[in-house]
This record gives sequence, C-alpha cells and structure tokens, in this order.
Amino acid sequence: MAAVLAPSFSLLPLKGDFGAEVRGLDIAQPPDAATGAALREAFGRHRLLVFRGQRLPPAVHIAFSRIFGDLEIHVLDEYHKAEYPEIFELSNIGPDGRPNAVHPDRGTLFWHTDASWQEVPALATLLYAEAVPRAGGHTLFADMIGAYEALGAAERERFATLEVVHDLEVSRRKAGYPGMTEAQRAQRPPVVQPLVRLHEATGRRALYLGSHGQSIVGMDEVAGRGLIERVMAHCVEPRFIVDHTWQPGDLVMWDNGASMHRATEYDTAVEPRVVRRTVVRGKPVRRG
Ligand SMILES: [Fe+2]
Repeated sequence: MAAVLAPSFSLLPLKGDFGAEVRGLDIAQPPDAATGAALREAFGRHRLLVFRGQRLPPAVHIAFSRIFGDLEIHVLDEYHKAEYPEIFELSNIGPDGRPNAVHPDRGTLFWHTDASWQEVPALATLLYAEAVPRAGGHTLFADMIGAYEALGAAERERFATLEVVHDLEVSRRKAGYPGMTEAQRAQRPPVVQPLVRLHEATGRRALYLGSHGQSIVGMDEVAGRGLIERVMAHCVEPRFIVDHTWQPGDLVMWDNGASMHRATEYDTAVEPRVVRRTVVRGKPVRRG
C-alpha cells in the first residue's frame, strides 16, 4: 500500500471554521500532489486561507493558483498585468514610482463577491501583496455561511426561492466609474443568481449577495433594494467578519461562493499599495 504523506503545513483557525492561516509552507516550492490535495481540502472547509511571508513572482502566483482549478481572464482588460493576462493588478504607483493619489479601484471599497455578475462566477480569488500601506488598506471578509446559518426559520424559508439580479455595469457606476465599454457590456449582461446557494465543498448553505446585486426578481425595485440592504447589514455584523491586516508577501485566497469582502480606505497620496490577484473559475451556481 502506498504511504499516505502527512500534509506539509499546519492550520491556525481564524474565526471558528471561517478562515485559517496556513503555516509552514513555502509556495515558491511547487507543492507535491498530496500537499495540493490537502490545500484544496483545507480551502473547501475554511473558505479563506492566509499564507504569510511568501515570495511570489507572477509566474509562481499563476502556477500555485492552478492547483485550485482553471484561471479566468478578467473582462476589464485595462487592469491586466503586461505579459500575464491571468493577473489583475491594482496599484496606486504612478510612472514616477510614487503613490499617485488615485485609488486603483474604488469598487473594491464596497462589500462584494468577485464576479457574481458572471453567469458562472469565480470560485476562488488569490490576492498577493507586494506593497502595503502603513495604515488602512485592510481586506475585510464576511462569512456568508455563518450569516445564513444565523437566520431564523422564517427568513430561511422566505429567502429559499428569491433571486437577485447582479450587474457589473451598475456597481461600476456606483463606485464613480463611467461603466464598461460597449464591447465589455455585450460580453457581460446582467445575470440572475439565487439569494441562497449551496456550498458544494461542505454541503452547507450560504447567502449570496454583494454590491453587484441590484434588485430582486419579481419584487418592486425599492422594496427589493431595501431587502438587499437589510440582508447585507446582517451579513456584515462583526460576528461574521475576519479583518486581514496586510503585510508584504501575504497571499490570501477566498471562496467567492461563501464570503463577501471589501477593502478599507488608505491614504492613496502617500501610501503605496500594490496587490495582484488571480481568479479560479467556478462551477454553475446551485440554489441552496
Ligand atoms: Fe474583490
């Protein structure tokens, strides 16, 4: 019988079963098959993994991400890193090498889940920090399984059949951007997602919302918005939140089907922040 190798890392839980720090793993050394399988299992269980002190050139970042599935290329190609279209870079460093006061993406300041505006949204996002501000610029994560499981029976029953329209165009405008080009718009029309989705790795249910969620199918617009805002407020209560304070060399990966996240403000005129991410393709959403 083949020996079963113990995984070459340990896990430090962050908040109950939501989130874990992975210790003792140097990602720059390609993990063997057993370690890759153990990482996929840990990610499925915890939905949020933090790796500290890593050194990840873009090619290594891409190779490591592929352990979790195929990668996506983002529709907003203005953010692609030269030569690495799988990498989406957010940087406030200007051509003179100094912070240029322009926030690279104000859309990230709103609670959202990546690519919920795609019919098949992203499974995982892997965000790596090259430079981080001395204050602010955190990423907050909300546990959408915990938020679902804290609902009462009446709300669970009511939410079970609701569907939400998600639209990147509207959330871009909300963040103060002119919206997408016509070609980008044609590629990404609004999509409908269930309010409650099944988290396949655990068999648990998760609320599925975020800033791309605009209205509820079959509900008056104002009433739908009101309901979305009330559910969002519930999801971001402190009891469901993990607050990640970045250090250069951190890689954080999260499950977009079981969490929301947002960045916090920082002084873009003074402080550098350079982060880059890859996105792992998901499977069609299943209603929970
Ligand atoms: Fe995001």
